[in-house]
Amino acid sequence: MRILVLNGPNLNMLSERDSAVYGQDSLAQITSELVQSFGDIDFEFFQSNAEGALVDRLHAAHRAGVDAVVFNPGAYGHTSIALRDAIEVITPPVIEVHLSNIYARQGFRHHSMIAPVCIGQISGLGARGYFLAVRYLQRAAAEA
Ligand code: DQA
Repeated sequence: MRILVLNGPNLNMLSERDSAVYGQDSLAQITSELVQSFGDIDFEFFQSNAEGALVDRLHAAHRAGVDAVVFNPGAYGHTSIALRDAIEVITPPVIEVHLSNIYARQGFRHHSMIAPVCIGQISGLGARGYFLAVRYLQRAAAEA
C-alpha cells in the first residue's frame, strides 16, 4: 500500500513551535516513527510552505496511483479553495490531520475548507493522529 503523508506550511518548524499546542516531536521524528511502525507501507513524505506545491503534489499522487493521502494542511486547511478543489478531483482518499484540536482554538481555525472532500478528520490527538490515520487506511484496505 502506498501512502503519501503530506504536510503544509510551518510544519517543518514543528519542534520550534509551541509544544503545549503541537507537542515536542519534530516532523522528521514523526516521519521516521511512521516508517518504523508500518514496515509494510510504502510511504512518500512531502512538506511545503507553498499552496501550489501542495496542489501539485496531490495531482502527482493521483497520477502515480498512490492509494491514499494523510494530509495536515496547516493553516491552508482553513483557507484554501485550491486545496479543496485538488482533493475533490483526485482519486486517492484523503484523511485530514491536525495535531491540535482546531475546534478548541481561535474561531478562525474552527472551519476546515477541505473537510467536506476528505473521508475523515483527526484533530487534537497530537502526532498520534498520523498513526491513527495510517492504521485506519490499512484496516480499510484489508477489509475491502
Ligand atoms: C495545524 C492547525 C492549524 O490551525 C495551524 O495553522 C497549523 C497546524 C495542526 O496540526 O494543529 O499550522 O494544522
